Amino acid sequence: MATLSDPEPDFTTLPVMDGEVFTAPLRKPDHVGDDWIEPRQRDYDAADDAIWDDLYARQMDILPGRAASAFLAGTQKLALGRGGVPEFARLSSELGALTGWSVVPVPMLIPDHVFFWHLANRRFPAGNFIRTRETFDYIEEPDVFHDVFGHVPMLADPVYADYMQEYGRAGWKAMRYNRLKALGALYWYTVEFGLVMEQAGLRAYGAGILSGPTEAVFALEAKSPNRIFLNVDRVMRTDYVIDDLQPTYFVIDSFADLYRQTVERDFDRLYRGLNPGFTYANAAVIDVDNVLHRGTQEYLLRGGRASGAKAV
Ligand SMILES: [Fe+2]
Repeated sequence: MATLSDPEPDFTTLPVMDGEVFTAPLRKPDHVGDDWIEPRQRDYDAADDAIWDDLYARQMDILPGRAASAFLAGTQKLALGRGGVPEFARLSSELGALTGWSVVPVPMLIPDHVFFWHLANRRFPAGNFIRTRETFDYIEEPDVFHDVFGHVPMLADPVYADYMQEYGRAGWKAMRYNRLKALGALYWYTVEFGLVMEQAGLRAYGAGILSGPTEAVFALEAKSPNRIFLNVDRVMRTDYVIDDLQPTYFVIDSFADLYRQTVERDFDRLYRGLNPGFTYANAAVIDVDNVLHRGTQEYLLRGGRASGAKAV
C-alpha cells in the first residue's frame, strides 16, 4: 500500500499552504508568477559558458569510478558536455523523450510547496544563473551547474525519475502533518547526498556530491564520515548541515530499492510517530543502523570547513 502521498490529490493545481506549516520565508520576485518559473532562460554570455565548461571538465575528471553509472550514462545521453550552459528547451525535449521530465528556470530557491508541485508534475526547477569565478568552488545557493549537472542526469534513469515524482507527490501529505523538515531530510540524504552500492563498489548519486570538487572524494574515500545503509524512518529523524561536508552518508542497494522503501512505507504512521522537536545528531551512529563504515569524524572534530580542516 503506497502511503507516501495522499491517495487522490489533484496535482494539476498548486497546493494550498496551511498557515501552520513551517516553510522557509522566501520573497517572490515580482517578475515571476505563483509557479515561480522565469518567463525565459537567461542569455548566458561566452564567459558564463566558459565557467560551465570548466566546471564540467573538472567534475568529469573526478567522477568516473566515483559517480553512479546511471549518472554518468545520463551525462552522455543528454550530452551535457557539448559546450556552454545547456539550453533548457533542448534539454527538456531530450529528457522528455527518455523519462517525461522537463527542466524549468527559476530565479532562486523556491518555496517547498511549489517545488513539490513541480516535481509531482515531472518538472525540475533549476537556477537561472551561474556562479562566478570568485565562487567557482562553492556556492550556497544552487546555480544552474549544481541543478543541471548535479540533478538532471539522474532524471534520465526511469526508476529514479519515478522516485523524484513520488517525492514531489509526498509533499502534500508531509504538509498536512507539518512534517516538511522530516521529508526534507529524506531529500537531503538521498537526492543531494546519496550513495549507492553498485557491483563495482560504492558510488555517489547525490547532486550535492557530484556537483562539487571535494565531496565526491570525501564521501567515498575519507575515513571521517559514517556510511550507513538507508533506513527511511531513521533518515527522516536525522539532522543535517547545509554548509559543510556531511558527517554521515546513507547508502542504498539500488534505485529500485530506494523507490520501494519510500513508496511502500506507511507515512501516516511515520508522521504521527515523529516528534518534530527531536532529531538524531548528524554524526551519530545509533543501534538500529546497518553500518558500512563507522567514521572517525576527524574532519568534524577538527572544526570542519570553518577551521580549514583537511577533508580526510
Ligand atoms: Fe540540489
